[in-house]
Amino acid sequence: MSSALLLALLGGSALPTPGAQALLCQLLSGRSVYNVSDLPLSWTAEQKECDSGEGCQDTLMLIENGPHVMVVLSKGCTKEEDHEARVTEHRTGPGLSVVSYTHVCRQGDLCNGLSNTMPVWTPSLQTAPGSLRCPVCFSTESCAGSATEVCPKGSTHCYNGVLRLVGGNIFTRLQVQGCTSQPGCNLLNGTQNIGPIEVRESCDPKDFVICEQGTKFMAGSNLTHEPVYWDTDWIRLCDAGQVCQETLLLIDAGSKSALLWNKGCGRSEAQDSWATTIHTGPPGVLVASYVRFCSSSFCNRANSTSILLKFLHRPAAPAPGNLRCPSCVNIFGSCSGNSPNITCPSGTAHCYDGHIYLKGGGVTTTVGIQGCVAQPSTSLLSHTRNIGIFSVRENEEDNNDYNIKPRLQNGAAPAASLAQVVGLGVALALCCGGLCLSR
Ligand SMILES: *[C@@H]1O[C@H](CO)[C@@H](O)[C@H](O)[C@H]1NC(C)=O
Ligand SMILES: *[C@@H]1O[C@H](CO)[C@@H](O)[C@H](O)[C@H]1NC(C)=O
Ligand SMILES: *[C@@H]1O[C@H](CO)[C@@H](O)[C@H](O)[C@H]1NC(C)=O
Ligand SMILES: *[C@@H]1O[C@H](CO)[C@@H](O)[C@H](O)[C@H]1NC(C)=O
Ligand SMILES: *[C@@H]1O[C@H](CO)[C@@H](O)[C@H](O)[C@H]1NC(C)=O
Repeated sequence: MSSALLLALLGGSALPTPGAQALLCQLLSGRSVYNVSDLPLSWTAEQKECDSGEGCQDTLMLIENGPHVMVVLSKGCTKEEDHEARVTEHRTGPGLSVVSYTHVCRQGDLCNGLSNTMPVWTPSLQTAPGSLRCPVCFSTESCAGSATEVCPKGSTHCYNGVLRLVGGNIFTRLQVQGCTSQPGCNLLNGTQNIGPIEVRESCDPKDFVICEQGTKFMAGSNLTHEPVYWDTDWIRLCDAGQVCQETLLLIDAGSKSALLWNKGCGRSEAQDSWATTIHTGPPGVLVASYVRFCSSSFCNRANSTSILLKFLHRPAAPAPGNLRCPSCVNIFGSCSGNSPNITCPSGTAHCYDGHIYLKGGGVTTTVGIQGCVAQPSTSLLSHTRNIGIFSVRENEEDNNDYNIKPRLQNGAAPAASLAQVVGLGVALALCCGGLCLSR
């Protein structure tokens, strides 16, 4: 090896690889409603070291609505490519207006240096009052009963819509009422992303419901008698047209029982419905479910399996019969060949050995079941194809879709931890002179 090449190699290894150096970026996010007279606003950000290759981003969104303005700010690291600072007027007045600022940079530490609203917002010229009056409101809860205001001249319609903003540490559902110069709900003019924030808009105030979110698997020996308590830590902001759902499936095979409990968003013909169903048994193997679809935020908040257990009338000690069968419930696959044998209760005459394939709500699994049943031909699910959010199949051969190890997927719809959102709730308390933080 020539000495020149050796030097080049040594030199090369001493130089940082381009783009691999970690940047320091400003970090801050929050949203709050201010009086127009409080603007311009300025703020002080924290700092964060990004992963190598990441850039810094600034995103600011202002929604002006009569005397109020909603300010949404997100600063932090991003994988997006660099682009110049960009100001977009998504909607201009009279009445409601939406403007955003986005910037992605890598030219140096803390290059996402936007520190106030000045580059984005100038007070709109005082427009003469018109003859229309509309309710004016920004609310994370409900705009019911909001005060009406005189609209500026040129307004022709009252806006009544709901916005969903998720991403860049922002997680919010916002109901908006105000004056506008066009019908319908089109504040965003088709925009779906503003920097890291995914934005959605709907005219249906029932859309973008917030639901509890999570999956609990549990195996035990007495789950049909002893209630299990569960409180999930996660919530999800649903898509338009979705409602909250809760599906609790309980399987008992004598000495073994298991439950599968899923909460999240779902679609249902009936917006508000609930049902408990005993799919099979007793005597012998019991399969029972509780299914709820409901359309108001956080309505899927059952915290105990007693919601289902109170509908089961199981004798504590069923009279024993003559048959003995292996007993097993395995939520994570097949039962092994050496499950313990149990004495079957009277009224059963056959040993069941099969599977339920189950998919939905981010869960895919095969549940192996062995136990006592009444008839050789017993189907545990009676050919039911859906139990709440789960689509279910029993003992089907060509079921490659289902016949895989259990998996929990992170769905595409945005989720946040409850703690995160409780934090946002605190940040909602109005604070002037600087943006409220929520991290
Ligand atoms: C906005 O202005 C109104 C009237 O001037 C005042 O009552 C209210 O407290 C102000 N709100 C904030 C957040 O400053
Ligand atoms: C809305 O979008 C259309 C099509 O992209 C564009 O031509 C129009 O200028 C936009 N309107 C506003 C107010 O930004
Ligand atoms: C199951 O729980 C019930 C109620 O707590 C209790 O009476 C029963 O003895 C338990 N059975 C077993 C097998 O642990
Ligand atoms: C469980 O839910 C019930 C009914 O909504 C509620 O009264 C109870 O306080 C909850 N329990 C806990 C520990 O959160
Ligand atoms: C269960 O009973 C069957 C049939 O009598 C027997 O072959 C099997 O070994 C028993 N299993 C166990 C785990 O004892």
